[in-house]
Amino acid sequence: MANSSDKFNLEESVKDLFVKNRRIAGKYQYTLPSPDSYPYQWFWDSCFHSIILSHFDMKGAKEELRSLVSRQLKNGLLPHIIYWEKHEVMNVDWDAKGTSSLAQPPLIAYAVRNIYKKENDISFVKEMFPSMDRYYRYLLTRDTRKSHLVGLINPDESGEDNSPRFDIPLGIESVHQFSENNLKRFNLFKESRKCGFDNVDCTRNLFWVKDVPFSAYLIENFMCMSELACEIKDRENEAFYIGQREMMIKSMRERMYEDGIFWTIHGMDYEKIKVKTWAIFAPLVAGLYTEEEAKNLIENHLHNEKEFQAPFAIPTTAKNEAGYFPEERSGPAWLRPNWRGPIWMAPNWFVYRGLKKYGFYDEANIIRKKSLELIEKSGFREYYHPETGQGQGAFDFTWGGLVLDME
Ligand code: GLC
Repeated sequence: MANSSDKFNLEESVKDLFVKNRRIAGKYQYTLPSPDSYPYQWFWDSCFHSIILSHFDMKGAKEELRSLVSRQLKNGLLPHIIYWEKHEVMNVDWDAKGTSSLAQPPLIAYAVRNIYKKENDISFVKEMFPSMDRYYRYLLTRDTRKSHLVGLINPDESGEDNSPRFDIPLGIESVHQFSENNLKRFNLFKESRKCGFDNVDCTRNLFWVKDVPFSAYLIENFMCMSELACEIKDRENEAFYIGQREMMIKSMRERMYEDGIFWTIHGMDYEKIKVKTWAIFAPLVAGLYTEEEAKNLIENHLHNEKEFQAPFAIPTTAKNEAGYFPEERSGPAWLRPNWRGPIWMAPNWFVYRGLKKYGFYDEANIIRKKSLELIEKSGFREYYHPETGQGQGAFDFTWGGLVLDME
């Protein structure tokens, strides 16, 4: 566990970071992931921001989520980006409604339950519940074949834009020019736009991936939805989300599990994509591995020097994967290594929580300690080199605050 002085310093620097990155838009407030590179509101980032804010600014934690749901689309989607203001950078999918049309990891129920657990404010739960319910039910419309798994229509929906586990469904080699990867994703986006995004009959012929982390997040968030429904005495939804959760757990086991690992799958035949990324650890957070499987997973993969064991924790792609590329590149965000090796704080936070859930306290504390070391050494950066700890990508990146929540 951290000692109180490192926690104190961390908390002060996180507060400063939020002062720098917080923005007002009319009656709404939100936090930028990074002022230099990401000048909009992102969905899963805001869920993280709310969790971080709940450590020192509960009002801010709620406002961050209120602004997110304020732009819910008619079909129920909570879009992955809200363009509160127009900027020159990255408004590739800007359209009249000022939001994107893609999803991002569905963490909002966890963020709301986090606030409720700390503050017991049932009125906030009641306020948020209807939007969240419409949102999760929208995601379930992405289960077109009633397999109890939700399809992603673009790698960006996973939050891990250029992760090597999407190379096969994108039809690119493990070693490629990053510009090619970006072009593929952008073209996919344009094709989805042509058929109106919610037309699953079309989008599923372009890219249709059932992702392990996304499914594990859903399982955890369905649990949060059933708990919140119980608190507001909505028995129907309580039962609904328990049922959805159980069916998804069963389906993940049937379709994704092999050789001790849950693999992301794609296509009509649910083909497993056997590329090792940090995603193999994501099911820990939802309790999907048995005790024995979790022990083997940690021994064989987390502690494996050829895979995820590195001076700094933890690489997002296994070191012995052909697509592993942790070196920094100059140029725009989409031409950088991103998810092909560097360490990001959100996966560290998920793995930390997963390890604790199974009682692997030593391993969890190493992740916390190494995360803190990265921030002390290199500041709040978007991601870090797993061998050197060098900061990479965007500056003043807000996810670093998640270390505050590793407690
Ligand atoms: C990058 C990340 C994505 C994040 C966004 C804003 O695109 O891959 O997960 O939401 O930046 O921080």
